Amino acid sequence: MTDVTKITVLGAGNIGGSLAQRLAEADVAREVVLIDIIDGLPQGKALDIQESAPILGFSTKVSGTTDLAAIRGSDIVVETAGIARKPGMSRSDLLGVNAKIVRGHAEAVRAQAPNAVVLVVSNPVDVMTHYFREVSGQPAERVFGESGTLDTARFRWFVAEALGVAPRDVTGFVLGTHGDTMVPILSLTSVSGVPLSQLLPADRLAAIVDRTKKGGAEIVNLLKSGSAFYAPSASQTELVAAVARNEHRLLPVTARLRGEFGQKDVTIGVPAILGRNGVERIVEVEITASERAAFADSVKAVRADLEVLAKLP
Ligand code: LAC
Repeated sequence: MTDVTKITVLGAGNIGGSLAQRLAEADVAREVVLIDIIDGLPQGKALDIQESAPILGFSTKVSGTTDLAAIRGSDIVVETAGIARKPGMSRSDLLGVNAKIVRGHAEAVRAQAPNAVVLVVSNPVDVMTHYFREVSGQPAERVFGESGTLDTARFRWFVAEALGVAPRDVTGFVLGTHGDTMVPILSLTSVSGVPLSQLLPADRLAAIVDRTKKGGAEIVNLLKSGSAFYAPSASQTELVAAVARNEHRLLPVTARLRGEFGQKDVTIGVPAILGRNGVERIVEVEITASERAAFADSVKAVRADLEVLAKLP
C-alpha cells in the first residue's frame, strides 16, 4: 500500500474495467473508483472486481458510479473514456468525438481534483493529453499520457519471440506519437545490455519495427469490434504504480515538451522519469540522425492533429 488514497478511472469500458482490476490487485491505493455514463456498468464491474478480493488478498476498496462528482479528492485520475477504433480507422479519426468527452472530464478535474496526477489514454492520445492539460489548467508535469509503454511492450514482445529470450530482458524505447509515425529507437534497444544489432539481422528487425507500428491495428482487425485492452491496461498499471509508489521509473511517456528535443508546445512520447508528482524530468537521450528525422515527422503529425483540434466547434 502507498500514501495514495484514491484513484479514479474514467470510463468503464474494456480498458477501464481491466485497469481497475489490475490496480486493485496491485494494492497501490486505498480506493479505486470507476466512473461511466452507462448506469450499471461501472457498479457491476466494480462489484465483480471487489468480490475477487477474498481470493486474491488485496485490500483495495473498489466502487463504481455514474456520478462524475465522485472524482473529488482523487490523487490520481486515469482518463480512458471515449470511443475505440473500428477496423480501417486511424486513431486520429476519433479526435472530434473523444475531445468532447475529454473536455468534460478535464473540467471536472479542474473543479474537483486540481491536485491530481492525470494519466490520459483516450485516443488520439498525444492530442488528448495536450488538450486535457489545456482545459484542466494543471501544471504540465501532472498530466501525461500512455503510448510509448504500450508500443514498447509490443516491440519488446516481438523481439523476445523472435530471439526466444525472456520478454523482460528486452528493453528499449518506442518514442514519438502513438500512431503510424511512431519511432522504435533501435539504437537504444538491447537484450540485457546486448545491442539488438548484434542479435538480429537488419531485415528481421525492419519487419518487427513495421509490425510494432501497426500493433494496435493488428488487434483491432482480429477483434473486429473494440481495440486492445490487456496490454494497454498492463502498461497503464506500470505508469500509475510508478506515480503511486514514487518509483522514479525511466519510461517512455507522452509529455508536453518545453524545448526538449528542439520542440515546444506539443505533447508526444519521450523518455521521462515518473514519480509521485508526475513527470519529474524529460530525459533528452541521444538518438541517431535518422531517428531524429523520424521523430520530427512524428511531431509534425501531432501538430497537424492539434490544428484539427483547434478548429473544432
Ligand atoms: C492500441 C490502442 C488502444 O494501440 O491505441 O491498442
